[in-house]
Amino acid sequence: MKYDIKGKTALVTGANRGIGLEVLEALLRKEAAKVYAAVRNPASAEGLVEVHGGKVEVIQFDLEHPDTILAAAKAAADVEIVVNNAGVLRTAAPLDKHAIDEFKFELEINTFGLIRMAQAFAPVLAGNGGGAFVQLNSLASMKSFAGFATYCASKAAAYSMTQALRDVLKEQGTHVVSVHPGPIDTQMAASAGLDDMAEPASLVADSIIEALENRTFHAFPGSMAQQIGAAYQSFAESVVEADLMGE
Ligand SMILES: NC(=O)c1ccc[n+]([C@@H]2O[C@H](COP(=O)([O-])OP(=O)(O)OC[C@H]3O[C@@H](n4cnc5c(N)ncnc54)[C@H](OP(=O)(O)O)[C@@H]3O)[C@@H](O)[C@H]2O)c1
Repeated sequence: MKYDIKGKTALVTGANRGIGLEVLEALLRKEAAKVYAAVRNPASAEGLVEVHGGKVEVIQFDLEHPDTILAAAKAAADVEIVVNNAGVLRTAAPLDKHAIDEFKFELEINTFGLIRMAQAFAPVLAGNGGGAFVQLNSLASMKSFAGFATYCASKAAAYSMTQALRDVLKEQGTHVVSVHPGPIDTQMAASAGLDDMAEPASLVADSIIEALENRTFHAFPGSMAQQIGAAYQSFAESVVEADLMGE
């Protein structure tokens, strides 16, 4: 049976712009009862409250400050769907002098941020019937691109952690989704020099809705992602999603 988004309460990190904004709008189109927009700068999401009224509530948080993640989980105690979308990209190749500093920063936000979000929100989701936890990973989780290799490595680590979360959260009835977009038309893609091949952010939002409704683990939004997802499918089914420990 399909998971019904209608009437659910969701939270989207980085909902003020880019992919996060599209996801928030898509959840509301599916008649989610309320979406918390968890953002660094509340003023950047004020327009959303003007448009959607009480269906959007802004929560200030910053993935660089773990105490704000815990406070967000307290403030959104009724949340049933968490979409951890906020992320950062620095353009560092492995031999660049600043590669390790950039990698540390990306790990802090993209990977440790995911762990902190999961630790803060898992008990809340459990208390609200299980629900769903969606993590924005990337094609870069599967394939490294030398010009922004440190970002790719942080997203590969986040993907690995998402796989573990899938197993751990299954026990409390929380469905985990790992999203792997190709280049998407946002400020992040522009900063990586990918604007030429970027596709609309609505593709990511649609793909997340589909994965939530059908309770699938992997989602591959965009034409490049579809191509890589098709090549990856057999490995995903027989290795990543398989129960190799016989549990
Ligand atoms: N665009 C792509 O081609 C692409 C492809 C694959 C995966 N992704 C992933 O999709 C997600 C969204 O990407 P996007 O393209 O929409 O990026 P974006 O346009 O650069 O937006 C990034 C979002 O993350 C927020 N953010 C950054 N650092 C934060 C922090 N410390 N605490 C809280 N929020 C923070 C930003 O908030 P501010 O407005 O305050 O800066 C913004 O809302 C990311 O996880 C990204 O890695 C993107």
